[in-house]
Amino acid sequence: MTSRTTNRDAFASTLGAFAATLGSAVGLGNIWKFPYLTGSNGGAAFVLAYLLAVALVGLPVMVVEHAIGRRMRLDAVRAYEKVIPGQRRWAIIGWAGMASALLIMAFYTDVAGWVFAYVFKSIAAAATGAPLTPETFGALAGGTWEPLGWQVAVLVLTCGIIAAGVSKGIEKVTKTLMPLLLVLLVICDVRALTLPGAARGVAYLFQPDLGKITGTVLLSALGLAFFKLSLGMGTMTTYGSYLPAETRIVPNAARVALADTLVSLLAGLAIFPTVFALGGTPAGGPGLLFNTIPLVFAKMPFGGLFTALFFVLAAIATIGAMVSLIEVPVAFLVEKGHVRRPAAAVITGAIMLALGVLATLSQGSVLSGVKLFGKSFFDLFDFLSSNVLLPVGGLAIAVVGGWLLSKDDFLAEVGRAPKAWYGPVVRHVVRYLAPVAILLILLSGLGVIRLG
Ligand code: PHE
Repeated sequence: MTSRTTNRDAFASTLGAFAATLGSAVGLGNIWKFPYLTGSNGGAAFVLAYLLAVALVGLPVMVVEHAIGRRMRLDAVRAYEKVIPGQRRWAIIGWAGMASALLIMAFYTDVAGWVFAYVFKSIAAAATGAPLTPETFGALAGGTWEPLGWQVAVLVLTCGIIAAGVSKGIEKVTKTLMPLLLVLLVICDVRALTLPGAARGVAYLFQPDLGKITGTVLLSALGLAFFKLSLGMGTMTTYGSYLPAETRIVPNAARVALADTLVSLLAGLAIFPTVFALGGTPAGGPGLLFNTIPLVFAKMPFGGLFTALFFVLAAIATIGAMVSLIEVPVAFLVEKGHVRRPAAAVITGAIMLALGVLATLSQGSVLSGVKLFGKSFFDLFDFLSSNVLLPVGGLAIAVVGGWLLSKDDFLAEVGRAPKAWYGPVVRHVVRYLAPVAILLILLSGLGVIRLG
């Protein structure tokens, strides 16, 4: 069977496809979650595990998702339903992906709301001279109406963009402003790295103490790799369905993974040297970004304005990622449910808001006492999505792409030797290395087996 051709929207060019895919990958995962998890999991050992997870598991899974997406040119549910003839059961990957998208958006919109709020708080702080402190963050995240108001604003904005259409909506928003975020991160890095005592922060990021690698650390690193690269839930399959026929999937995916990882490392290099130089704690939890960035800029001329600009750009990167998260259920509702795009965006947004309220109010407000499996709603949604659903989804995707899709069909999308020497190599990684690694890490991270 050859690729289906339909008149769905598509990315206009390979560069456009790269930028849009990167727009999905880069988001709160880089600037908020990567530093926060690195700090809570002991530093460089976690970073090392994360880099390996990206290269050996994330990249191959992204390749499979793009390949299946482009081959089928359908939303994620129908793509997996039809990709292996006679085996409709794999539609479950798309369904589970929809659940993941809803769970992720529940806490993602809460954090995105903090970012939006910090745009205004940093402008106010610059105007009044009253600095942003950990108390500022605590009051915001632990509040009730303030974080809820921001969360609603974030959802309304993102759903509005989604309602406007694929290539127009996604490509434009993400492509133009990403380089600016990069420039600002580099400015942060230079400032952070020239603070006295910064070297300890660099060592914290890059000198691994291998004794710190445990099953839990590995699972967090793997979960982050999936979350970071928007994998295991159909997002990248949907994006694959918009890929131009001439885009070479492996080099494109490799560039996306590389660029995305670079952004995370740049964020880490801004945060940890500052934390060590100015006496914070690396295990600062979800507030780490919000409590550290104002400190970096406080040591600079026009620091207040830079802080505001940082959060503006962070907000823009976040929108790109959220658009891609909402796109999973929306594409499904539009194509399978025959719902109009704006209506689909509203339905999806409403469900996300319902779950999102639970996450937001569990951060110190009325639901903070409610624990399920020992976790708040916020932590539970995060754990269930990143550390369970995405890896399980990734495992299923690797099995479908590596074992059930014929070699010929796989190589038709991914590329054949000798021109694309890597095609068969990637296929082996997809068949053996990636699924075995995911399975072992899942079992050890969830405490079923002990590694080492
Ligand atoms: N990759 C995004 C980030 O790191 C989050 C995301 C996950 C987006 C899954 C889409 C799908 O911020």
